[in-house]
Amino acid sequence: MKKLLVTGGAGFIGANFVHYWLEKYPSDNVVVVDALTYAGNIANLDRVKNKANFNFVYGNICDQALIEKLLCDHNIDTLVHFAAESHVDRSITGPDAFIETNIMGTYSLLKAAKKVWLEGERIFEKHRFHHVSTDEVYGTLSLTDPAFTEDTAYAPNSPYSASKAASDHLVRAYHHTYGLNVTTSNCSNNYGPYHFPEKLIPLVITNILHDKALPIYGDGQQIRDWLYVEDHAYGIDLVLQNGRVGENYNIGGNNEWTNIEIVKTISKLVEQEFLKNKELSKCFPNAKAAMEENTESLITYVKDRLGHDRRYAIDATKTNNELSYKPNESFETGIAKTVSWYLNNEEWWQSVMDGSYQNWITEQYS
Ligand code: NAD
Ligand code: TYD
Repeated sequence: MKKLLVTGGAGFIGANFVHYWLEKYPSDNVVVVDALTYAGNIANLDRVKNKANFNFVYGNICDQALIEKLLCDHNIDTLVHFAAESHVDRSITGPDAFIETNIMGTYSLLKAAKKVWLEGERIFEKHRFHHVSTDEVYGTLSLTDPAFTEDTAYAPNSPYSASKAASDHLVRAYHHTYGLNVTTSNCSNNYGPYHFPEKLIPLVITNILHDKALPIYGDGQQIRDWLYVEDHAYGIDLVLQNGRVGENYNIGGNNEWTNIEIVKTISKLVEQEFLKNKELSKCFPNAKAAMEENTESLITYVKDRLGHDRRYAIDATKTNNELSYKPNESFETGIAKTVSWYLNNEEWWQSVMDGSYQNWITEQYS
């Protein structure tokens, strides 16, 4: 039975991970610590909030004393670290928060873990610090380059990926220098439920429903390697159960698409859903599909992102071979589930987009 501290568990991947974990391991204890930034939403944890073995703590990972207290009070043996500033566009306009949370926050967690697990009154020999990272630390690929392996040299290009790379190096150093039991996973782009609608896939779905332009940066030929979020949670599970301490594991689904292909696929799926379910036209009367017009006409090419990485692709051979990892969802099934989730959860995405949820946090925690 594990006792987990999950940082950033009210965000997109963290919340999906908590759902996954408590369904698969119902006797484990899970504590989430989250600062509820614009990207964190406690409603993402509604499904588990009443479970006796689940606790939510409103707090910042930069608060080392708080993290030490949580590790001690809850006898935590496994820390799974998702908390981060995660949006590349925001890192371009305002890198400070990325340096603070992604680098200093990870450093604070490492210091707390070292103090409690390695130097405390009770030594936790079987502890694990799992760091959730990204394929973006490896930089960018041309069309003909081989996909990133765990041995690809780090070459981050955005303030976001540079801050994640720095945190990966700190995690590695705490293993080599102090003997902290760490693992790191580097995953490709995720998609699925609870994805904040500033990222490409949820932005396109919600813009279609609002009859807003679908902004394509540059020529739309950039390539990302997409993985359904539950398959990321499953990969982390395997690393926690059987991964070798001190190792990095790539997680990905071998699923590369250009951005324009993604947007066209989603446009078609939404149109098909409107044809199948006439109620949708009443819920979203402004959508092109409600008027049987062409959704793709919303596609609008806009100025490119600064320093835009051309292609990411993950070679997950090590994780596949060593941990028998294989994603459960194909892109076809995962994207259909995702579109359907957004069509059925308007209340969720309206509240995170109109800021009403942020007002609620201010009331609760001020
Ligand atoms: P997200 O932005 O949706 O969620 C981040 C969460 O962290 C939010 O709940 C936020 O409130 C919390 N948080 C931010 N700063 C904090 C702080 N200082 N203290 C405590 N909590 C804080 O991000 P996500 O997409 O769920 O990504 C989670 C992790 O996975 C990140 O580390 C990211 O780098 C990594 N990752 C993301 C992707 C992706 O496609 N989204 C792919 C690979 C790796
Ligand atoms: P994003 O979801 O921000 O993830 P990341 O930058 O971490 O890969 O963007 C995915 C791709 O989509 C990326 O190449 C940028 C592009 N993009 C657009 O073309 N338009 C948009 O409005 C957004 C948000 C992203």
